[in-house]
Amino acid sequence: MIKKDIQILNPDIKNDPTHEMALSVLEGLSSRPKSLPSLLFYDDKGSELFKKIMQLDEYYPTRCEAEILQKYSQDITSFVSGEKFNLVELGCGDGAKTILLLNTLLKEKREFNYVPLDISKAAVEFLLGNLEKEYGPIPFDVLGLVAEYFQGLGWLTENASERNMVLFLGSNIGNFNRPTALRFLRHLWHSLNDGDLVLIGFDLKKDLDVLYDAYNDKEGITKEFNFNVLDRINDLLKGNFKRENFQHQGLYNIQTGAMESYLISQCQHTVTIDEVGKSFKFEAWEAIHMEYSYKYLQSDIDSLASSTGFKILKNYTDSNGYFIDSLWTVCK
Ligand SMILES: C[S@@+](CC[C@H](N)C(=O)[O-])C[C@H]1O[C@@H](n2cnc3c(N)ncnc32)[C@H](O)[C@@H]1O
Repeated sequence: MIKKDIQILNPDIKNDPTHEMALSVLEGLSSRPKSLPSLLFYDDKGSELFKKIMQLDEYYPTRCEAEILQKYSQDITSFVSGEKFNLVELGCGDGAKTILLLNTLLKEKREFNYVPLDISKAAVEFLLGNLEKEYGPIPFDVLGLVAEYFQGLGWLTENASERNMVLFLGSNIGNFNRPTALRFLRHLWHSLNDGDLVLIGFDLKKDLDVLYDAYNDKEGITKEFNFNVLDRINDLLKGNFKRENFQHQGLYNIQTGAMESYLISQCQHTVTIDEVGKSFKFEAWEAIHMEYSYKYLQSDIDSLASSTGFKILKNYTDSNGYFIDSLWTVCK
């Protein structure tokens, strides 16, 4: 019998969603330069805005990865041999591209459980709705997990006795700096069994104009996505951020190889956040760092895999050479 379920693994989401948020806002706005944790992007509205970003002409990563999965799903799934397996997707978002892979698995009559995980409950619910739209009754077992990545890895450690394929698509890995990426990948390696598979989406280094336009779209949806974090702090933590005091800018840092998002204060002012119990002074032109999106060379991908116990089986790229889905296997 096919099962469909959602579990909330994140105790902060269940119990006191504002407490963790207040602590991380305190930490970020007390740092120099100021920052806000990128986890705050993805509430229900943030997930909606990200879906709009993915449809923008300028935002190439989604189209590139969809092209890769459209072309190579069959080749990718040919590496998962044998018995029933878990298809685990970390930071699944709306799962729209994953349907390309799911359809290939169904066509090949493969048996699998699909375990999409996301910090945003709205994203997991939307994904399950997408599956129902696509299939009517969903023809495989689905367990949606609302959790942070590392909690998802804990779930994997306890439940990964079957063969596993882990998807980490959409350049989610680009939000980690190198030390955090190494920690995450080594933790992932530890949670999996010898021979398990991992498919990771890496956004490649490319023409700077292409990068700039993708993170500074004409319609201003990326700006909205960033301002939504301020609205969220105002609503949940009783803050008094004023959008009009800030401008948004996405910049490429040539030294680190990351697109970096900033909200830049346009005037001297003070923001009070009651639930944090503190006011924060902003100078004119002082920036809040919002998000990193690291871009990679092929050699960076090779080094991440070999430093964390994985072997690269195959790299799949789009016709522009903008993006790679890299298929790795766990070596133990
Ligand atoms: C850039 S979107 C990509 C979504 C999807 N992988 C795709 O390719 O379309 C990142 C997704 O990861 C989720 N996410 C971000 N940080 C997370 C975390 N620490 N733990 C779990 N999910 C996270 C967000 O909620 C969002 O849905």
